[in-house]
Amino acid sequence: MRIAPARSFRGRFTLPGDKSISHRAAILGAMAEGETRISGFSPAADCASTLLCLAALGVDVRRGPEVVIAGRGPAALAPPRTVLDAGNSGSTLRMLAGVVAGRPFRCVLDGDHSLRRRPMERVAEPLRAMGAGVVTTGGRPPLTIEGGPLRGVRWELTVPSAQVKTAVLLAGLQALGETTVIEAAPSRDHTERLLPAFGVAVGKGGGVTVTGGRPLRAARVAVPGDVSSAAFLVVAALVRPGSEVRIEGVLLNPRRTAFLEVLRQMGAVIETGIEQADPEPVGWIAVRSAKLRGADVPAAAVPALIDEIPALAVAAAHAEGPFTVTGAAELRAKESDRIATLCEGLERMGAHVEERPDGFTIQGGRPLRGAAVRSHGDHRIAMALAVAALAAEGETEIQGAECAAVSFPGFYAALERGARGG
Ligand code: S3P
Repeated sequence: MRIAPARSFRGRFTLPGDKSISHRAAILGAMAEGETRISGFSPAADCASTLLCLAALGVDVRRGPEVVIAGRGPAALAPPRTVLDAGNSGSTLRMLAGVVAGRPFRCVLDGDHSLRRRPMERVAEPLRAMGAGVVTTGGRPPLTIEGGPLRGVRWELTVPSAQVKTAVLLAGLQALGETTVIEAAPSRDHTERLLPAFGVAVGKGGGVTVTGGRPLRAARVAVPGDVSSAAFLVVAALVRPGSEVRIEGVLLNPRRTAFLEVLRQMGAVIETGIEQADPEPVGWIAVRSAKLRGADVPAAAVPALIDEIPALAVAAAHAEGPFTVTGAAELRAKESDRIATLCEGLERMGAHVEERPDGFTIQGGRPLRGAAVRSHGDHRIAMALAVAALAAEGETEIQGAECAAVSFPGFYAALERGARGG
């Protein structure tokens, strides 16, 4: 993929459905009784992986203008005939581990080359504590799960992770008694927000609590636009003079929008408006180009903007002064080692980057130049480098750019439209 610089970046956008909410709506629909209808379901490859795995577990899944899941409760899930293939999707593998942990059969969960290097003990441990047999491959996929009767657990997350929190809660829905997940730093809360729509009460005093053995009832879910995808378009507008972008119908959950706060700290003027509050805040984002300065992203801020750090790094490369991220070692356990792959790409484009085990510093303000860069098969790295390319001098060639479809099919078309002026 070759990307030429753009003079400015303008337009109104609506984005494909939020990936995190889509996964959860489908999985809860499969555990519920009745027909769950999901509008705006994400067209991302990751969410297709979740639907395929659910179908492999015997769930009736139909994809049309809406995704329709004919749930028959967890007891109707059937032992899959093949390995459950989560593809590139950590969310699919970790969350489904929580589902099958409660079922009386054995199954194997696996993924692609990138997923096979990601840590799984964090999800295996609590599921074992609840009574499931879970064997990892040196701490990574494939995972073999021998499910069965579970008991509720009180689990303190050692690594902040919404995927692990969700896996434990999904297992908890099938367990005897109460299950509570305690997190030191708040991670995204879509599962907690969706559960009441499926008729399940969620306790929120000192952790997130569910009670096992209560049936879930089917729901209608409208998935808003993916705010993590929005981050790339917001940054594209910020780094090109004369730009203006408005994004409509986008998720504005505060546990996902912390990147907007960082950009504001950097000098961006970003307006948002909430048009719907429940079960998720949804609305619009408006942004214009701005002169940016560096910022510090401390460890405590990281969980709420973990997926947006690649986009923020591109803004940082255009900011005056240092931009530092610390306490983000978790980035090394994403679809690629995002500290290494981001630093490599931006450095090739001429940015001044200092890599550390738990983060990086970018000394911004140096003009970027087009270069040959690599996505390392990581969708967010591909998209970050593509946005950087819009504001570089000369053309950039991204190897492995197509992986953007893992979360944002249509990303390059949106980029082109914005570069043409909307
Ligand atoms: C996600 C949680 C985060 C995030 C991922 C989606 C989710 O991962 O990076 O893209 O939907 O729960 P962790 O839970 O591993 O932090």
